[in-house]
Amino acid sequence: MSKREELTKLREEMLKDDLLPLKNGATNLVFGNGTPNSKILFIGEGPGFNEDQQGLPFVGAAGKLLDKTLESIGLHRKDVFVTNVVHHRPPENRDPLPEELGAYGKYLDKIIEIIKPKVIVTLGRFSMGKFLSEVKISTVHGKEKRIKWHNLNLVVVPMYHPAAALRNGNMMTSFKEDFLKLPKIIEENTKEEMKQDSLI
Ligand code: URA
Repeated sequence: MSKREELTKLREEMLKDDLLPLKNGATNLVFGNGTPNSKILFIGEGPGFNEDQQGLPFVGAAGKLLDKTLESIGLHRKDVFVTNVVHHRPPENRDPLPEELGAYGKYLDKIIEIIKPKVIVTLGRFSMGKFLSEVKISTVHGKEKRIKWHNLNLVVVPMYHPAAALRNGNMMTSFKEDFLKLPKIIEENTKEEMKQDSLI
């Protein structure tokens, strides 16, 4: 099965899962989208109003900023895969609760295991907290961290959430500066992969 087929199957499983705690209040499941074969995975927090309406991640104001900032480093949304730590909209856009992170986390783990990214960019503290504990986003944003996660060697790059950047000028500056570091991190950590591809 291709990665796309595996993700489609997983999405269907999620659609049928009536135990997902935020399902009742949501209009649509926001599974994630992009290129399943990408080596770069972006993980945000959870769908907002627009994402809930459209069933797609990062399509509102925060998404526009994400698109624009990706373009500033020569990347397009179609070059990456984008998902969230919870896949239904929390009521009033509140923070996800620990039990919600647990319930959706099982599926997020499978998304990561299918995609097998080399670089994960976390957007905001909830997504960062999945991989890095006991750290503050204000001190670690923009700094790559190598971790072993479920048998995968990952480079995690914590970033501020684009919605936070839209509310705070200093965070906006850091958000843009942190993105400028990504091309080098991506190049260094996907080189082996590219070498392998060129041998085929
Ligand atoms: N904010 C998020 O964290 N994710 C989205 O999909 C949209 C806004």
